[in-house]
Amino acid sequence: MNIRQLFLGNHVNQEVRVRGWVRTFRANRFIALNDGSCLANMQCVVDFEQMSAELLAEINTGAAVEVTGILVESQGKGQKFEIQASNVSILGASNPDEYPIQPKKHSLEFLREKAHLRVRTNTFAAVMRVRAALSFAVHQYFTQNGFYQVHTPIITGSDAEGAGEMFRVTTKDPGEADDKPDFFGKETNLTVSGQLEAETYAMGLGKVYTFGPTFRAENSNTSRHLAEFWMIEPEVAFNNLDDNMDLAEDFIKSVLAYVLENCKDDLGFLDQRFAQEEAKKPQIDRSPMGLLERLQFVTQNKFKRVSYSEAIDILRNSKPNKKKKFKYTVDGWGIDLQSEHERYLVEKHFNSPVILFDYPADIKSFYMRINEDGKTVRAMDVLFPGIGEMVGGSQREERLDKLVERMKAMDIDEKELWWYLDLRRFGTAVHAGFGLGFERLVLYSTGMSNIRDVIPYPRTPLNAEF
Ligand code: 4AD
Ligand code: MG
Repeated sequence: MNIRQLFLGNHVNQEVRVRGWVRTFRANRFIALNDGSCLANMQCVVDFEQMSAELLAEINTGAAVEVTGILVESQGKGQKFEIQASNVSILGASNPDEYPIQPKKHSLEFLREKAHLRVRTNTFAAVMRVRAALSFAVHQYFTQNGFYQVHTPIITGSDAEGAGEMFRVTTKDPGEADDKPDFFGKETNLTVSGQLEAETYAMGLGKVYTFGPTFRAENSNTSRHLAEFWMIEPEVAFNNLDDNMDLAEDFIKSVLAYVLENCKDDLGFLDQRFAQEEAKKPQIDRSPMGLLERLQFVTQNKFKRVSYSEAIDILRNSKPNKKKKFKYTVDGWGIDLQSEHERYLVEKHFNSPVILFDYPADIKSFYMRINEDGKTVRAMDVLFPGIGEMVGGSQREERLDKLVERMKAMDIDEKELWWYLDLRRFGTAVHAGFGLGFERLVLYSTGMSNIRDVIPYPRTPLNAEF
């Protein structure tokens, strides 16, 4: 049985056995043991007079140990139960002079370099448990709502989506002759999105979603970008943009409600951590809400829905800060919004998640449905406080002639996407979908501030250790 099961079950006065890693060993008497199953440690009380000096010397922070004893109600503060240990054995020793994870607060930067051990800290274990719960909630939400998961390819032969810079997949050595055929006989890349393939499946299974790794070789070293991240992409036949917004909002609320309900201890811990971190910031940059408070706020309030044109008007009339103006001035309709603009809208103006829709066609992808005005497309982005863009999606162009026209205008090869165009030739229908960056969702849910700290092994420019 793991420690979580012992805390939840009814095992008082029974003999139990736990195995885990020593967090601390105090006064030769109290082992705080953690096995990763939950935030709380099991306090194991040992009788050092009965133990050999060699054994005692091996009970160090980081060591793997097995403890057998009677589970009793704890006298001490802060824990419900403890184990009166009758036997302790060392499963794997850990040299305290060399073990990097000492029982003190380490910086996140330091822990990134010890990514193989950082999950043994409270913060990372809590983040990774919440991440796992969110992943479960994603599959549960879609399954309960009649969606089928599709596994879209990771190696892709179509490079036309234009979602970002790609990583080439090849078996050729650098410098090898150009005329030698490559493994697939054509240029292939790691996928930047499963959307186009998901669309083909939506036009047969009706409601589908993908949840898989996605790769972008953008050289953006920010706290919101990874070169390898996980994306969730639902795609639904017969849905229009309004349905798509409803789905995105309901989906996000549902998975956040799931973790609020099922990760109380971890979120409680992360809430305190968040408060401490916010307190270090200057007043003006602080989050107006605590972590739990803002998660509840999102689940309970309707997201604001604002067209791109309305957003531009708000930004042009705004005074972001008496002294601080936008770095990129909002000088006219048609500009791509920078993250400072998105953050102003969600954090200062609306103070709530915002869905922006009907963007200028020129700044969005070829597959988005063109509006009657001929200038805007049925695109939507869901923006979150502190995060910026959480979701990007659209209603797709289902009319063959309009799609071909757009592809021509944007210089996209029709031959390459023959199969995508076939969908518009055979039983075309209105359909829509979106992509949600899973790490951005984990970031928001855990209150962490850098995306590198919510994925086990982050891949970023000049960094692929582990
Ligand atoms: O807005 P994006 O580029 O949209 C697509 O890829 C569409 N094909 C989705 C669709 O309609 N099916 O990416 C979707 C989301 C973003 O909103 C963001 O949350 C996340 O993916 N994202 C990243 N997350 C981490 N690191 C990066 N480099 C990211 N790029 C995008
Ligand atoms: Mg986007």
